[in-house]
Amino acid sequence: MSVPSSSRQLGPQLALASTIAARAELLLIGIVSGPDGPELAGDFGLDAELVGPLEASLAAVGATGRFEELTRIPAPGGLGVDAVLAVGLGDRGGVIDASDPAAAAEKIRRAAGVAARSLTGIAHAATTLGALDLGAAAEGLFLGAYLFTEFKSAAPAAGRLPVARVDLLVAGPRAKEPKQVLARAIAIATATAVARDLVNTPPSHLFPAEFAARAAALGEEVGLGVEVLDEKALERKGFGGIIGVGKGSSRPPRLVRLSHKGSRRKGAPTVALVGKGVTFDTGGISIKPAAGMENMTSDMGGAAAVVATVVLAAQLKLPINVIATVPMAENMPSATAQRPGDVLTQYGGRTVEVINTDAEGRLILADAIALTCEKDDPDYLIDTATLTGAQMVALGSRTPGVMGTEEFRDRVAAISREVGENGWSMPLPAELRGDLDSKVADLANVTNHRWGGMLVAALFLREFVGEGVQWAHIDVAGPAYNTGGPFGYIGKGGTGVPVRTMIAVLEDIAERG
Ligand code: BES
Ligand code: ZN
Ligand code: ZN
Repeated sequence: MSVPSSSRQLGPQLALASTIAARAELLLIGIVSGPDGPELAGDFGLDAELVGPLEASLAAVGATGRFEELTRIPAPGGLGVDAVLAVGLGDRGGVIDASDPAAAAEKIRRAAGVAARSLTGIAHAATTLGALDLGAAAEGLFLGAYLFTEFKSAAPAAGRLPVARVDLLVAGPRAKEPKQVLARAIAIATATAVARDLVNTPPSHLFPAEFAARAAALGEEVGLGVEVLDEKALERKGFGGIIGVGKGSSRPPRLVRLSHKGSRRKGAPTVALVGKGVTFDTGGISIKPAAGMENMTSDMGGAAAVVATVVLAAQLKLPINVIATVPMAENMPSATAQRPGDVLTQYGGRTVEVINTDAEGRLILADAIALTCEKDDPDYLIDTATLTGAQMVALGSRTPGVMGTEEFRDRVAAISREVGENGWSMPLPAELRGDLDSKVADLANVTNHRWGGMLVAALFLREFVGEGVQWAHIDVAGPAYNTGGPFGYIGKGGTGVPVRTMIAVLEDIAERG
């Protein structure tokens, strides 16, 4: 499996092992809360006579096995490491032989992430967590250890470096299956980290042309078909939404197309991906308040996730066709910016009255959706965007809103919950559509009220989705970017959501059509 060479080291080196290496400094174990105190969540490969004393030592310093609890103790003699770190997994039934395997996997992923965040300064650790769920443990470790330091002028002190290597202890490390499970988990976590890196790169350094160049480079490294339209081509071909949003900036817009031809079979499904790539959203002439505006560096989170996902689809050699269409623009106020009241013509000919220049995402997405539906004849279309503040009002900062054609919407939302990204189906109430009627144009880009803002934005996009296309729209305004403290395997800043949802949906389509 090829990993883009231009990307930095995005996470710790993860390897399979059947014994604790001599150089390992620390053993990370999972504990559950038992009736008489903490219990090892399996004693995988540990000497039986070490288990009792280990549990007793942990109990003696107050460990309970409560979910996400961390307890670090000196290692008992004979274990061959300096220290043991125990992470709580909660009730035994929640993680071992659990009735809900997806929930169990997410617990392990989160616990591994919490542990990885506390392993700074450790060069080499080993863990038994992989014996519970190898893929979930690997993803949690990799993503929990993710750190973005590109714009720090000094390297972190040794004690603050993320863990460099973790050996996952499993029986029979030479077996084929664990190798494949680990490789897939590393690929998925790496793609998530690639999306995080793009989101975390500040708008000074990631503007449309630069974003397009990085997306093209990532695509070329894995053999994707790559096409980049610059502002002249966009103007010539009638991408009025992308031009309108981008024209207030001295840094012109782009449209990137990345295609993975995974199958030549006639009737193989084609999935179109579209992601909002606003490299910075000031609101334009309808300018945003100053407080929190810096967070609008994340307004290309949908685009970052889509780029990372199509690259991953190629790496995983998914036997379907995936084509990503990614509009990129910077929304700035200036003498050349579009005005409230302007009318633009979207790709395909529909006109839109731009009442609020801060509702810009839907304008660039409409062009991209219209293009991919016209050119690619997709069976499925997933678009994702940091589209509305209303997403956070409705669902909070960690729950993506999923809208679209009902069956596919519910399939995407269910898969999103399975992978721990927690998407939730939302309706498209018919009565709201009329509120987007315009006096002068075919459509207005906003309504004259605040109600159902997330749903209204999706209703606007629906106007551009081709007939018969199974469509899901994922609003990740909150989930793409964590402005609070770290939790689980998610640190501050870009989260990589919804990469893991989209790749799981693509795998599901590859398997079931
Ligand atoms: N990029 C914002 C949405 C957003 C808000 C993302 C908060 C992440 C966090 C989007 O372009 C926007 O400004 N939407 C407006 C739409 C409104 C003018 C109808 C909004 O949500 O206020
Ligand atoms: Zn906006
Ligand atoms: Zn925006």
